[in-house]
Amino acid sequence: MSAPPRGRVLVIAGSDSGGGAGLQADIKAITVLGGFAATAVTAITVQNTLGVSGVLALSPDLIEAQARAVLDDIGADVIKTGMLGDAATVARVADLLDAWRIPAVIDPVMVAKGGQALLADTAVETLITRLLPRATLLTPNAPEAAALTGLSVETTDDLRRAGHALLELGAGAVLMKGGHIAGDRLVDLLITPQGETAFEGPRIETRHTHGTGCTLASAVAAGLALGRPLGTAVADAHAYVAQAIRRAPGLGAGHGPLDHGWPLRPGLDGPRLK
Ligand SMILES: Nc1ncnc2c1ncn2[C@@H]1O[C@H](COP(=O)(O)OP(=O)(O)OP(=O)(O)O)[C@@H](O)[C@H]1O
Ligand SMILES: [Mg+2]
Repeated sequence: MSAPPRGRVLVIAGSDSGGGAGLQADIKAITVLGGFAATAVTAITVQNTLGVSGVLALSPDLIEAQARAVLDDIGADVIKTGMLGDAATVARVADLLDAWRIPAVIDPVMVAKGGQALLADTAVETLITRLLPRATLLTPNAPEAAALTGLSVETTDDLRRAGHALLELGAGAVLMKGGHIAGDRLVDLLITPQGETAFEGPRIETRHTHGTGCTLASAVAAGLALGRPLGTAVADAHAYVAQAIRRAPGLGAGHGPLDHGWPLRPGLDGPRLK
């Protein structure tokens, strides 16, 4: 009999100095939801709520060494990937997943909220052929779904079509995020070979949505690492992110961060700071 899951998530992602997205968001979400986060840093970004002004990519060797140091000793129940940067790094992470066979939540990060590219164009093909087939869950937003499938993704129906195309390409399941689809209601679709579940809610009118995608994927990873079924992990993660947006602390002059720590302050309602 295999050991019960222990909530361990190895995050392979970039650092966001602003603390709202990237591995900072990942660590906060995983910790608050009861998991344990370890990290293999792929890049250091110079970033705040206004955008990304510098990037230092670490070498695939150094990224792999961090991951192996964690896996050889601490272990992981789930691996979650975020910003990978280039084709060589994508390929190296795929090699790691081949070697370790740990369930993987792959967030195919391509562009930062401020518009800066976080994945080289030349890496998209490697992502499709090498990483996508290893995804237990792939979590693209609408532009990423379009780039990965070549389909136009403007509506919820488009999101559904692209989701099925991504399953065809080998993803185990897809969580198609609706943040970039126009409309008052916001619909995310979880599509698995067994069927579809929609997660729907009102679009919250706010500029504080920095790191929503990283946070959602990490929250799902934490749930899976704690042994929850995929549908439950996604439902919990969706509810966690919606409330984290509602309680955003109002920091910075651009796309501000969420309140990852809201479950620690259960009595509080509404925004914390003005
Ligand atoms: N204004 C909003 N109100 C409510 N939920 C939102 C809002 N914006 C995003 N979300 C939710 O946040 C999650 C992330 O979706 P989104 O499509 O924004 O991902 P993303 O583009 O990858 O984010 P990021 O820019 O952080 O990488 C989804 O569950 C989405 O429904
Ligand atoms: Mg994203």
